[in-house]
Amino acid sequence: MPEIHVVQRDNRHLYESYFDPYFRLRHDIYVKQRKWMALDRPDGREIDQFDTEDAVYLFCLDGGQLIGAMRAVPTLSPTLMSDIFPYLSIRGPIHRPDVYELSRIFVVPERRGEHAGPQVEMLLLTAIMEYGISIGLTGFSIVLESWWLPRFARCGWRAHPLGLPQMIDGMSVLAVLVDCDETTWKSLCGQIGLTNPTLTWQGLTGVNRQILPDISLHHSPAVQPAR
Ligand code: COA
Repeated sequence: MPEIHVVQRDNRHLYESYFDPYFRLRHDIYVKQRKWMALDRPDGREIDQFDTEDAVYLFCLDGGQLIGAMRAVPTLSPTLMSDIFPYLSIRGPIHRPDVYELSRIFVVPERRGEHAGPQVEMLLLTAIMEYGISIGLTGFSIVLESWWLPRFARCGWRAHPLGLPQMIDGMSVLAVLVDCDETTWKSLCGQIGLTNPTLTWQGLTGVNRQILPDISLHHSPAVQPAR
């Protein structure tokens, strides 16, 4: 089973060797494959203004290889929604201590659409919920393409639109606020067969974490499993 590591300011030094491959992978995936040319950089690394000391990364590692990742940025700091896409949220960008903005979720191409074990993408969606409830978040804001909405609905992520979708560079994009709560996390764990929390908090003993509910008895999915 791949491991999901929480990487942030306090333990980043333990993962320093992963950062260069991580930013190169982002460049390969977002610039070369997805053709998001605004993110192009001559050094072949996709790094933006939100990759600051405040950013939290979930690194999905399998046999020491980075096979997927996701980024979370506190909404009290600058975010994609506050600085680039404020018009996507009718009531204006979210700035709340209990909401982080998610972005840059990816799985390396060779590990997408797997059915042998939990899909890497589902593991990441479950892990970020665990992260959120561990540190007392109540929601995640996301600027996303609208094709995510049925995917979220299928796995039980409740996404509330903050505005209407807009066409941006040929993509239908909108802003949402997703509930972060124990019920969703337990349901996700049930869907992918997790009976224990999945996150690795290496070097993060100083982080104040809430006790998680027992999931060892929650095997039956509360919602339709993702297909
Ligand atoms: N546009 C529309 N639908 C997409 C899509 C895209 N760019 N990428 C994925 N999907 C949807 C499709 O329904 C796809 O089914 P299909 O293969 O029948 O078209 C389904 O997601 C499954 O995607 P797949 O890539 O096979 O596997 P996955 O579920 O394991 O991984 C992602 C999903 C998004 C994590 C993976 O596709 C990825 O890493 N993509 C590149 C990074 C990215 O675009 N991230 C989102 C923006 S930050």
